[in-house]
Amino acid sequence: MPALSAPLPRLFLLLLSIYSPTLATKFLFNGFKEAANLSLDASALITSNGILQLTNGSKRQIGHAFLSSPVHMLHRRSVVTSFSTAFVFEIVTVNGGGGEGLAFVVATSKTLPGAENGQFLGLLSTQNNGNFSNHLFAIEFDTVKATGPFNDIDKNHIGVDVNSLESNVAKPAAYYADGGNKVSIELLSAQPNQAWINYNGVTGILNVTIAPLRLPRPRRPLISHAIDLSPIFKEYMYVGFSAATGNLTSHHYILGWSFSTVGVASSLDPSQLPLPRQKDASPASRFRRLKIALGVFFGLLSSIALIALLIKSIKDGNFLSFIMLVAQIKDKFSQYGD
Ligand SMILES: *[C@@H]1O[C@H](CO)[C@@H](O)[C@H](O)[C@H]1NC(C)=O
Ligand SMILES: *[C@@H]1O[C@H](CO)[C@@H](O)[C@H](O)[C@H]1NC(C)=O
Ligand SMILES: *[C@@H]1O[C@H](CO)[C@@H](O)[C@H](O)[C@H]1NC(C)=O
Ligand SMILES: *[C@@H]1O[C@H](CO)[C@@H](O)[C@H](O)[C@H]1NC(C)=O
Repeated sequence: MPALSAPLPRLFLLLLSIYSPTLATKFLFNGFKEAANLSLDASALITSNGILQLTNGSKRQIGHAFLSSPVHMLHRRSVVTSFSTAFVFEIVTVNGGGGEGLAFVVATSKTLPGAENGQFLGLLSTQNNGNFSNHLFAIEFDTVKATGPFNDIDKNHIGVDVNSLESNVAKPAAYYADGGNKVSIELLSAQPNQAWINYNGVTGILNVTIAPLRLPRPRRPLISHAIDLSPIFKEYMYVGFSAATGNLTSHHYILGWSFSTVGVASSLDPSQLPLPRQKDASPASRFRRLKIALGVFFGLLSSIALIALLIKSIKDGNFLSFIMLVAQIKDKFSQYGD
C-alpha cells in the first residue's frame, strides 16, 4: 500500500503544475470602462463610453492594446495552450477611403517597438518582416490591398500571419450561413462585426470565424488551418490588438473582448456593448445632410415669399389674383410629380 500511495501525490502535483489555475487566463470585457488591466500604446485610448479606440482616423497612426499581464502559452517548451477568443470590432472610414486594418495579436512585447504603420498594421517593420525571431502570431483584418511583397488577395480580407505580414492563409471576409452559402462581409461597413478565434493546442487546428454582431456564431469557420504554434510561442506571451492607418485612414474600434485558455471564451453580450457615436462620416451621408439643409432653407425662403405676396395682394385689394397665382404655381409643380 505505501508503495502505491507515494507516486500518486507526485502525479497529482504534476497535473496541478500543468493545469494550475494561477496559470490560466480568462476574462470578459463587455466594453472597456472597467478594463484597468489593459496596456495602451501610441494612439490607442478608451473613449468616455468605454470603446477601445485603436486609431482616431488621422493618417499614419499605430494603436496597440494588450492585456497587461502575460499569458502562459507554452508548457515545457512544446505543449501549446489551447485558447479561445471572441471580440466585436467596428471600422469607420474617413472620407470613404479606409485603411489600413487591425489585428488580434499574440506577441512577446506589449509595444512592438519599431513596428511601422500603413500596411505593416503596427505589427512589424521592413527590418524584421519574415524573421523567425519575431515570435509573432496575428489574425489580420486588412482593408487595403498592399502593394509589394505581401501578396494581399484583396482589400477586404482576413489572414493568418506568422512572423510576417505575408499571410500563411487568407480569405475574403465572409461567413458561412447555416444553409451552407457564403455571405460576404464588408469590413469597412461601419457596422459591428464579431470575430471568433479558436486554437486547439493538441490537434494544432486554428479556426477563424466572423459574422455581423446580430448573428450567432456560424457553425462553419471561414478559415480552418492546421498550424503548429510551438516554434512561434514562448512560455509567456502578450495577447491584444494592433491597428494602423496610412494615407488611407479609419477609426478602428474594439467594442468588447472575451478570452480564455480554459475552454471556450465567454459570450459577449451585444446589449452591453458601447457603440461609436460618430456613425457614418462618408461623403454620401454628408451630401444627404447638405440636401436636407438646402431643402429646409429653400422651403423657408419660398414660404416667406408667399406670405409677402399674400400681404401685398391683400393691401392692393387684389386677393383673387394671389389665389390664381398660387393655383398656377401648384399646377406647374404637379407636372413634375414628387
Ligand atoms: C482585470 O481587472 C479586473 C478588475 O480589477 C479583474 O476582475 C480581472 O480579473 C482582471 N483580468 C485579468 C485577466 O487580469
Ligand atoms: C488623433 O490623435 C492625434 C494624436 O495622437 C492628434 O494629433 C489628432 O488631432 C487626432 N485626430 C483626430 C481626428 O481626433
Ligand atoms: C532576424 O533577427 C535577428 C535578431 O533580431 C537578427 O540578428 C537577424 O539578422 C535577423 N535576420 C534577418 C534575415 O533579418
Ligand atoms: C474547427 O472547426 C472544425 C469544423 O467546424 C471543428 O471540427 C473543430 O473542432 C474546430 N476546432 C477548433 C479548435 O475550434
